[in-house]
Amino acid sequence: MNGMNGMNAATDAATGDVPPAVEFRAVTKIYGAGTARQYTAISDVSFSIPDLPEHGEFSSFLGPSGCGKSTVLRLIAGLEPQHPPTSGTVRALGMEVTGPGADRGMVFQDYSSFDNRTVLDNVVFGLECRGVPRHRRETEGLEWIARVGLDPKRDRAKYPHELSGGMRQRVAIARTLILRPRIILMDEPFGALDPATRLDMQDLLVRLWREVQATVLFVTHSVEEAVYLGDRVFVMATTPGRIIQEIRMPSATASARETQSEPWFHEKVQALHERIEQVEADAKRP
Ligand SMILES: Nc1ncnc2c1ncn2[C@@H]1O[C@H](COP(=O)(O)OP(=O)(O)OP(=O)(O)O)[C@@H](O)[C@H]1O
Ligand SMILES: [Mg+2]
Repeated sequence: MNGMNGMNAATDAATGDVPPAVEFRAVTKIYGAGTARQYTAISDVSFSIPDLPEHGEFSSFLGPSGCGKSTVLRLIAGLEPQHPPTSGTVRALGMEVTGPGADRGMVFQDYSSFDNRTVLDNVVFGLECRGVPRHRRETEGLEWIARVGLDPKRDRAKYPHELSGGMRQRVAIARTLILRPRIILMDEPFGALDPATRLDMQDLLVRLWREVQATVLFVTHSVEEAVYLGDRVFVMATTPGRIIQEIRMPSATASARETQSEPWFHEKVQALHERIEQVEADAKRP
């Protein structure tokens, strides 16, 4: 791991520790800083997600609307105008984030596929940008179409408008994972799906995540989803956006549906619901 460290590397040379997958140190983001419209989206946010060998941590981010969840994710992705932070440092794999990079892949809530490209052409888009030859692109693209539960024969030539919401998110996931990012950023990817499809997608995600062993940061409004998927859950509060709690969770071992009937799951969900209600009530207080 030491070999990839440059000037900004966070490796502890004395111990040889692997730097965290993601690290925020006292990060503040003020939109429109210095103008009359300036707004502090997140303030003094610090957290660290370890880069576990052969595993990859799954972290859920939960919190009321406007608490800065998307801001946090887009700062890691290096996307403007969230990037750069107003103060503090954002590091990914030991390096300070200076813009988008191949080590980080993002899946958005809205179906972000290209309308004029087929499923296959959407899935292989990133490979095309990297100059991977057509034949290899297609082989890999069809493999990923199958992996996310679509039919390589029937679905490859379809256009996004011919797909259901769940199918479109499968395409979005394939398009990101085909590039094998070490860090996967997901901003409410299942927010627009019906409850049954959502559970299927959660199972799919757990399966793929085990396969690719990446670090996942997952934003959701659903307490159940955060608890089921997360190795840890970060609870955020608003005005200003900040992290108020970090909770360890048991790793997903059974399917989403089976897990829903387990006592530990109910306990964690109940406790988190109460915490979130409290945060939302606090946010409304003048
Ligand atoms: N480009 C921007 N310019 C000005 N303010 C912004 C910008 N982007 C976000 N904000 C504000 O910063 C705060 C945090 O926004 P952010 O999108 O990160 O919240 P969120 O937790 O993702 O909310 P939601 O759950 O509704 O998606 C919000 O109050 C929002 O209005
Ligand atoms: Mg958001």
